[in-house]
Amino acid sequence: MNTGNSAVESYWMPFTANRDYKKKPRIIVGAEGHYYHTEDGRKIYDAFSGLWTCGLGHCHPKIVEAVQRQVETLDYAMAFQMGHAKAFELADRVTDLAPDGLDKIFYTNSGSESVDSALKIALAYHRARGEGHRTRLIGRERGYHGVNFGGMSVGGMFPNRKMFGASLLPSVDHLRHTFDLEHNAFTRGQPHWGAHLAEDLERLAMLHDASNIAAVIVEPVPGSAGILPPPVGYLERLREICDQHGILLIFDEVITAFGRLGAPFAAERFGVTPDLITTAKGLTNGVVPMGAVLVKDKIHDALMTGPMQMIELFHGYTYSGHPLACAAGLAALDIYEEEGTFAQVRELESHFEDAIHSLADHPKVTDVRNFGMMGGVDLESRPGEPGMRGLEVHKTCFWEEDIVVRHSADMLQFSPFLNARPEDITMTFAKVRKVLDSID
Ligand SMILES: Cc1ncc(COP(=O)(O)O)c(C=O)c1O
Repeated sequence: MNTGNSAVESYWMPFTANRDYKKKPRIIVGAEGHYYHTEDGRKIYDAFSGLWTCGLGHCHPKIVEAVQRQVETLDYAMAFQMGHAKAFELADRVTDLAPDGLDKIFYTNSGSESVDSALKIALAYHRARGEGHRTRLIGRERGYHGVNFGGMSVGGMFPNRKMFGASLLPSVDHLRHTFDLEHNAFTRGQPHWGAHLAEDLERLAMLHDASNIAAVIVEPVPGSAGILPPPVGYLERLREICDQHGILLIFDEVITAFGRLGAPFAAERFGVTPDLITTAKGLTNGVVPMGAVLVKDKIHDALMTGPMQMIELFHGYTYSGHPLACAAGLAALDIYEEEGTFAQVRELESHFEDAIHSLADHPKVTDVRNFGMMGGVDLESRPGEPGMRGLEVHKTCFWEEDIVVRHSADMLQFSPFLNARPEDITMTFAKVRKVLDSID
């Protein structure tokens, strides 16, 4: 039996300060375009476009219609040993957008599952080629790769790890992160300092012996851990070192794929092609949960061996390629194309950059970073109360300024709609400044 505020007690909310939230719940009852509708009858502007998910806006009529039509036609098709047409069509459409050579797709239901699938595929690939000794996985400090055991282990956000003690994967190591206020504070776009940090992979290749390393996974632009654009030349150097040592390079593009950086994939934007790409979020515009791992042909083909009647990869999910998700994905891809979303982002991103950097002179702000339609603002923590200032900004924005701003402890994060109106971006930062002025 529940005690307290019984209307909200049962639901244990993810990545939320539950006890604080439940004192005064912020409840959404609807959404349309760039706005949420709240329980108390307000329309509030969503400056985080869902959770990096809904770049095209909420309840886009074309996606809503596609999902409605789908649920009446085919609700579910057995995902193992059977297929339905839209799963194949979506795979073709996504691989058409992907960098050359990434021509195979494995479906999942979330970013976390995409990451763990990619890590498993990397291990299976090496084993299939007779290099089963390649078992070590390399992540990076301040990386976020979801919450399953693989992603948690290669991830580098310490609060997400420490709570689970030693229950992490063995044979994991981490590159240093690239954040350095001394050299990169208030950088617009990619910092020019820091490419040399990619050499950390050489250090780990020496320490563990490269022949034992299966894969390196990085977010091209780390998102949840702070919007840390890669130093110029950094990703290129990681690619070179991986090639030199036969290590697979995985880009975790759960946030950066499908337009957030003004291109279908960050790989294209940065001109660096990894061996695997993990995606989710923008694949369906967040409407139906879905993720996907894009895989180079050579990796897929190495596993297509053994007797014809045998399963080649012992991995998959009941809901892999779910019909509703595929319908939403196909509609989202149509809209990206019809509305020229990726080009739109390229036009909008300098406005966003100017707007977010307008906070740089605020006395409570210690750093501002941005790339594409991703931005972060670090606030000085209140002495003895880490995270409190960020939470107060979030709550004051919601209750008094009618906007949703995400905070991660004392960092504010921004993920504007890919089709945002410039004046709404300007408005967002004017309101955040007002809130920063008004709180302690
Ligand atoms: C880069 C990255 N990888 C993985 C994930 C995990 O995705 P999900 O929450 O869908 O499991 C996220 C979520 O934000 C992410 O940003």
